[in-house]
Amino acid sequence: MCGIIGYVGQRPALPILIEGLRRLEYRGYDSAGVALMERGKLQISKSAGRISVLEQMLDMQAKPKAGIGHTRWATHGAPTDVNAHPHTDASGRIAVVHNGQIENDRALRTYLERQGVEFRSDTDTEALAHLISRFYQGNLEQAVRQALHEISGAYAIAVVCSDEPDVIVAARNGGPLLIGVGKGEHLVASDPAAILSHTTQVVYMSDGEMARITPDHVHMTTLDAIPVTREIEEIEWGLEQIELDGYDHFMLKEIHEQPEALQDCLRGRIEARSGSIHLGGLVDCTRELTRARRFILTGCGTAWHAALVGEYLFEELIRTPTETEYASEFRYRNPVIDDGTVVIAVSQSGETADTLAALVEAKQRGALTLGVVNVVGSSIARETDSGVYLHVGPEIGVASTKAFTAQVAVLAMMACYLGRRKHLSPAAASQFITALEQIPKQIAEILERAGDAKVVAERYAGFENWLYLGRGYNYPVALEGALKLKEISYIHAEGLPAAEMKHGPIALIHEGMPVVVIATSGSQYDRITNNIAQVRARGGSIIAIATEGDRQIAKMAEHVLYVPDTPEPLQPLLTVIPLQLIAYHAAVLRGCNVDKPRNLAKSVTVE
Ligand code: AGP
Repeated sequence: MCGIIGYVGQRPALPILIEGLRRLEYRGYDSAGVALMERGKLQISKSAGRISVLEQMLDMQAKPKAGIGHTRWATHGAPTDVNAHPHTDASGRIAVVHNGQIENDRALRTYLERQGVEFRSDTDTEALAHLISRFYQGNLEQAVRQALHEISGAYAIAVVCSDEPDVIVAARNGGPLLIGVGKGEHLVASDPAAILSHTTQVVYMSDGEMARITPDHVHMTTLDAIPVTREIEEIEWGLEQIELDGYDHFMLKEIHEQPEALQDCLRGRIEARSGSIHLGGLVDCTRELTRARRFILTGCGTAWHAALVGEYLFEELIRTPTETEYASEFRYRNPVIDDGTVVIAVSQSGETADTLAALVEAKQRGALTLGVVNVVGSSIARETDSGVYLHVGPEIGVASTKAFTAQVAVLAMMACYLGRRKHLSPAAASQFITALEQIPKQIAEILERAGDAKVVAERYAGFENWLYLGRGYNYPVALEGALKLKEISYIHAEGLPAAEMKHGPIALIHEGMPVVVIATSGSQYDRITNNIAQVRARGGSIIAIATEGDRQIAKMAEHVLYVPDTPEPLQPLLTVIPLQLIAYHAAVLRGCNVDKPRNLAKSVTVE
């Protein structure tokens, strides 16, 4: 996902832009650039590579008090200097930074080339710069408005013009954009993290809105020039939550934050004694939810794994048919949505394009839609009819960790909340919530033994193929453990329902092959230990995730990582922790960039 930052005010803009770009780099990073404005001139600097490459080109003493910046994760055109943003028109008078994709880019380019425009880059954004220029007659806001009426697709943009050096025009339609409010200055950004050190007062823009931003004023309208009034909101997160806090990587920090993050997620929402759950976001639609005839949980990647745990939780506690769908598949397969269908979108960023599109599709077909989202004010949060926020603070590491456990915890609370309105007894709910209340402390206990996971990584980081096996509630955890290893250490790993191994994948087992098996106490214990025996008979090396006190498992495994006991429906909250740590240490041992894995971005806002 690309990052956008803009500043207009009384201070030199460049240091503010560079600091903002650094805080945005985790979202998408293969090139970066800035445009500084002074009367009659735009200074454009941009390059492929990291922000540090860009900084070498800049005079950090530059005087201009207005400018825009961008970090790019390539969608149209390779990550090169010329394809980096900002993009300008032929005269160099107008500059644009853009997050999203212009779908009629080809037709636009053809039209403009026929008008004599010579393109320098392969990007869709450059076409927008030329189009704005063609409409510009001294009013940048008007020119942007006219240009945006000619394009289709998703965008969040910031536009500047050397003839109006203290104006930034911003617009959004399908990509996050917010305005930071300061004293005699304003900022615009695609993520609160970029402006947090300057202000916590923000205005979240909605799709189809524009803003003309000057040091003292923000004028918001729709694309059709209808004035819009938006409340100023307070960003809940502190800067320290953005910083590394002494950890080597954001991912490690966020793994270790999970006890506190889960506390924050549960706070004020659970009451063990009475067996009650309080989810403010569901109050207005509880009646409709209680009458739901079917739930569809949808998401991508890790969020999809959390949704799969949710499926098991919903069917067990609410006893309503529930299915989990990959958002990218759901949106294109003409899904059956009928009365009584509730669609729940699970997403950390709230900006994942496939998940957002699946949601829009579900809404158009009449489903009640809920969001399980971390980023307040994000597109998915605003698109859904209602929802429950994770409240775990910003997740910076590209590999999702605390968001996964929080998503599962929220889905567990939703299942209990709705279950109590159907067949779940107060006693059963109280027992469930009492166990849920223990989870943060139990995660802390697991983290005290984090070294055990490092030993496993040291022994097997050189193996290029791993298997992860789980049953029941731990089957989605096996998938999640495999994804964690893949995405940060680049080791190929496959997660499977353990029983599926004998239907083909068992052919993969070779001498010494690392096979992670989640073999915690519960209804599937005997079967999963049989699976362990099958793997060992073929020479595989067993890394078992087991329940504290289980000594039998130690006789069957090369390594055992223990987790405290908890009811099966809540086990994913604990069994995932050692798997996160194994993946982290394997990646570090292999010299991989843990927080910014190759080819990946924190939030995939394109198809
Ligand atoms: C998780 O480790 C991955 N980085 C990725 O699968 C992620 O979960 C997925 O892209 C969904 O993101 P979201 O939760 O922000 O929608």
